[in-house]
Amino acid sequence: MKLLHIDSSALGANSVTRELTAAIAARWQDTLPGLAIAYRDLDADPVPHLTGAALAKTDPVAAADAEHVLQQFLDADVIVIGAPMYNFAIPSTLKAWIDRVTIAGRTFRYTDTGPVGLAGGKRVIIASGRGGIHSGAPSDFVEPYLAFVLGFLGVTDIEFVRAEGVAYSPQHRSDAIAAALAAIPEPLRAAA
Ligand SMILES: Cc1cc2nc3c(=O)[nH]c(=O)nc-3n(C[C@H](O)[C@H](O)[C@H](O)COP(=O)(O)O)c2cc1C
Repeated sequence: MKLLHIDSSALGANSVTRELTAAIAARWQDTLPGLAIAYRDLDADPVPHLTGAALAKTDPVAAADAEHVLQQFLDADVIVIGAPMYNFAIPSTLKAWIDRVTIAGRTFRYTDTGPVGLAGGKRVIIASGRGGIHSGAPSDFVEPYLAFVLGFLGVTDIEFVRAEGVAYSPQHRSDAIAAALAAIPEPLRAAA
């Protein structure tokens, strides 16, 4: 089994979502010791933006990295994504990653009856961190967007581990992180 761990916070050691994704990945590793974990830190090691040159694949090193990013996504059984809210949306570094895994013919295709996702069968856990409180509000362009775009790719098994209101006060922050850590989904589910 393969787990892909993606971080995108620009806040380093002060990041809420990095703390959550690390705890989620550790929970999976403790439960499934044979688990293979791939990691990409999109802040330290960003995927280049989707420019015309990138689409034309003029830089073979960048093109190989883009293919590597796509293959890691395709290969993963479980994906843990750190998704901070920056200016009401995902960090541009995470959007650049989404741009490399949303590829016609590889992760989705159009048919004469509409689009079909090709990347189903994965479980995705999203560590969502935000300074304010946005769940269910029109200001949330993080969680609905990620659920939609992953659903477009055929990924429907998506869970959110959420810490919000972290900027309200230090107490809000520590309570929100503790609640999120307590809500990490179990790696193994009981058979239905
Ligand atoms: C550049 C920047 C923009 C932010 N924009 C928002 C925002 O629009 N709404 C919000 O509720 N919090 C916002 N915040 C607060 C973050 O969502 C909060 O710090 C959260 O913990 C980010 O996750 P991280 O700690 O893993 O980076 C912003 C923080 C930064 C650094």
